[in-house]
Amino acid sequence: MIYLNGKFVPIEQAYVPVLDRGFIFGDGVYEVIPVYSRKPFRLAEHLHRLQHSLNGIRLKNPYTDEQWHTLVEQIIACNEGDDQYLYLHITRGVAKRDHAFPAGISSTVFIMSNPLLTPPQELLLTGVPAITAQDNRWGRCDIKAISLLPNVLLRQLAVDSGAMETILLRDGFLTEGAASNIFIVKNNVLLTPPKSHLMLPGITYDVVLELAQTNAIPHEVRVVSEEELRTAEEVLLTSSTKEVMPIVSLDGKTIGDGKPGAMFKQLNQLYQQYKAATMRGGDAVVSLK
Ligand code: PDD
Repeated sequence: MIYLNGKFVPIEQAYVPVLDRGFIFGDGVYEVIPVYSRKPFRLAEHLHRLQHSLNGIRLKNPYTDEQWHTLVEQIIACNEGDDQYLYLHITRGVAKRDHAFPAGISSTVFIMSNPLLTPPQELLLTGVPAITAQDNRWGRCDIKAISLLPNVLLRQLAVDSGAMETILLRDGFLTEGAASNIFIVKNNVLLTPPKSHLMLPGITYDVVLELAQTNAIPHEVRVVSEEELRTAEEVLLTSSTKEVMPIVSLDGKTIGDGKPGAMFKQLNQLYQQYKAATMRGGDAVVSLK
């Protein structure tokens, strides 16, 4: 069952008019929210980022946070599986094709749930390959826009070469992955670029930094050069659906000893514990010591 503009219907019966600006212009924003044991993970933070994205495209939020909470509860309840991922999608709505914003239309709101398939244990034990590419996206990568063509093309480069992710470089500096945020380890210090218009402010990125902070893991949020990335002891990716994953080669060259490192193991364990603690009820649980 999906939610579309006020109704819950089976996905096969859900249609959007061809003049929807999401279809015509990619004029919309989205969110991806993991659900564990039927509880949405960091929902407040996802709704906050949704508001940031809506502000970025000058589109009014169609619902209050309270209404979003209710819809999220309803969509979880009417879908199978304890672990799901929710996809929220809002476009500027349906109007005659014209680039400028149309007056007096209501936005299109679509929510679906899919089974959440986190990475298999095997990949966490072996690690995964990644490639690099020049970050040729626009200057507002902090907006979670549905117009994802550059990300699609960049991610396909990874698939074409048998890699898990494409790590993006802009002007000689690390930005993020095609669909993830990136951390590296240098001299045993966890490093990641600061939030800016050039990357998506990841919810998992925030969780990892909080875990580093509360568990006294040496870390620094600062620009990371291509050189530092290429000579890192460890490289990690984070996202809502992939959680924390170890990258063990870059453009065919081994990172460290080619195996998931100590930092990955510690952070992944902390992340899994944090998830479990959050699901037991205390959403504010951060310190695991
Ligand atoms: N993508 N950067 C980009 C470009 C992303 O698309 C994503 C996530 C992230 C990680 O953000 P978060 O930790 O909040 O998931 C960073 C989602 C999962 C997607 O588009 O499917």
